[in-house]
Amino acid sequence: MGPSNRNLLTLLDYEGDEILMVLQQAARLKAARLTGDPKPLRDRTGVLIFEKPSLRTRITFETGIHELGGHPVNLESTMVQLGKRESVEDVARNLERWVHLIVARTFSHTTIEQLAAHSSIPVINALTDTFHPCQALAFMQTLHERIGADSKANILFIGDGNNVCISLMSICAKLGYRFTLACPPGYEVPAPVFQRIQHACSNTGAAIAMQPDLNSAIASAEVIYTDVWASMGQEKETEKRKKAFTGYQVNSQLLARASRDVLVSHCLPAHRGEEITSEVLDADFSMALDEAENRLHVQKAIISHLLT
Ligand code: CP
Ligand code: NVA
Repeated sequence: MGPSNRNLLTLLDYEGDEILMVLQQAARLKAARLTGDPKPLRDRTGVLIFEKPSLRTRITFETGIHELGGHPVNLESTMVQLGKRESVEDVARNLERWVHLIVARTFSHTTIEQLAAHSSIPVINALTDTFHPCQALAFMQTLHERIGADSKANILFIGDGNNVCISLMSICAKLGYRFTLACPPGYEVPAPVFQRIQHACSNTGAAIAMQPDLNSAIASAEVIYTDVWASMGQEKETEKRKKAFTGYQVNSQLLARASRDVLVSHCLPAHRGEEITSEVLDADFSMALDEAENRLHVQKAIISHLLT
């Protein structure tokens, strides 16, 4: 039986069972790394398009495609100029004639939807303004490693209701976790996508909430996640956001009020001293670097899932 999804644009398109299958494959690939992995991408090419900067995503996709036996081609966005030199539709129609996979990091989520709509090859979302599904998969793989797949920890995201927060909310909705976003008023997850996430909870047992009061959310938090206050493309709002997020820093004083064995994570890159302090980010209970490593394994799993 092939995958029920041809693309990975958002985890809201996936059922919990399919997500768990991908996570199990990621664990197998991690254990078998460089010891004769299956090579489902032998003689196949994956093209990477980045409209925004990247360290982790670019390296893990290039390395992952190579380790699966394939050939990654990085198409600099200045080269392709999606929608400027050529329409997104025409880029998609051309690429499908030559390559077997598109991995794209775009500003607008509509751009990646157009790439998927106008090509017959799988398209993987490497971050858009709205979603970052590969990050959420890597987070969940890391959480399973730390506390097991059956332990449904209470997760608190402190910060902006951004692409990373939305994808973490989505995976928690699909897999039955409790997840709260604590953010200043005006920085919540936009209502249309929040409604889709709420809908996804209906038969999974998940409970997803948003609230401005960090004090009341912190005491029951077992996992705390944070991300930059101004995402790529929002640089002009940096100073305004620093003011708005005062009091939402993840630091030792805050963690002293959380659950005793609290875990912390961050998608990286971090702005040390802003949304998180170094003593927290670099602590043993920080999952951030394990999560960064797991990007490689979980992306190999999703590629294998979509292409075999
Ligand atoms: N976390 C993440 O996606 O990192 P990059 O922006 O460096 O790819
Ligand atoms: N929210 C951040 C995530 C970076 C990986 C951004 O979009 O810039």
